[in-house]
Amino acid sequence: MDLSRLNEEGRLLWNQKAAFWDALHGDDGNQFHRTLVGPVVETLLGPCSEERVLDIACGSGVIARRLASLGARVTAVDFSEELLAKARVREHAGKPIQYLMVDATHEAGLAALGEGSFDAVVCTMALMDLPVIAPLYRSARRLLKPAGRLVVVTAHPAFNSNNPVFFAELSDEGGALRRRSGVKLESYLDVPPVKAVGAPGEPNSHYYYHRPLQELLSEAFDAGLVLDGLVERSFPASTDAKPALGWSAVPQIPAVLGMRLRTRS
Ligand SMILES: C[S@@+](CC[C@H](N)C(=O)[O-])C[C@H]1O[C@@H](n2cnc3c(N)ncnc32)[C@H](O)[C@@H]1O
Repeated sequence: MDLSRLNEEGRLLWNQKAAFWDALHGDDGNQFHRTLVGPVVETLLGPCSEERVLDIACGSGVIARRLASLGARVTAVDFSEELLAKARVREHAGKPIQYLMVDATHEAGLAALGEGSFDAVVCTMALMDLPVIAPLYRSARRLLKPAGRLVVVTAHPAFNSNNPVFFAELSDEGGALRRRSGVKLESYLDVPPVKAVGAPGEPNSHYYYHRPLQELLSEAFDAGLVLDGLVERSFPASTDAKPALGWSAVPQIPAVLGMRLRTRS
């Protein structure tokens, strides 16, 4: 499989849907960002005011803006010039954000951002979009200060990967109607890249690279990182009417996985 060709095709696909993606997320992101991704980043990152933070695969800049508003000095990189153009013109609170075009699969390009100069590196909802992740892990190790942390938030590989099938059932249990919603999976360990929908209504789909947990983490360990924080987050159960299908219908199933990694001493 030619992974660099897939990566280049990915760039084209992301450029093509940059305007859609930016409009969908607006300044503060969608429900996923506001309820899951943003809070998980903050839980794992901790206070970041005045810190130098790198956001890898920043997209339209939702998380970069959130970090800047918390007082961080943010550098944000992506390989889509169209998404970067959208991010640059969005206003935000806090310090200015430096946006740069850098490919997250190129270790040298990332490392050139300043070895040992970042307090934290963040990558949200993008690891599953990258054909290779070892260069990102290795460069994070090089970019971080000795006590720095890498915070990754990604689609949970055990549940929200490889096109899960949502189901909803209604049954009569001893005279009471019971609704059940859940997720069905067929495979987990060995799944080839697949094009899948990133958001309903988007103009084109892009590639997803499923990695079971053992792969997601062993590549980080091989890069000299250790795991010291882990969060699994689902949408909260609520009494509000919810759709029967989708992530907000399954409060017991985490849609995202957050990991904090540090340099092994
Ligand atoms: C699902 S979006 C997430 C964007 C952002 N991190 C967020 O949470 O809103 C995935 C992003 O990964 C970027 N991306 C995919 N492959 C990349 C690569 N090889 N190098 C840099 N960015 C990449 C895409 O351009 C897109 O902005």
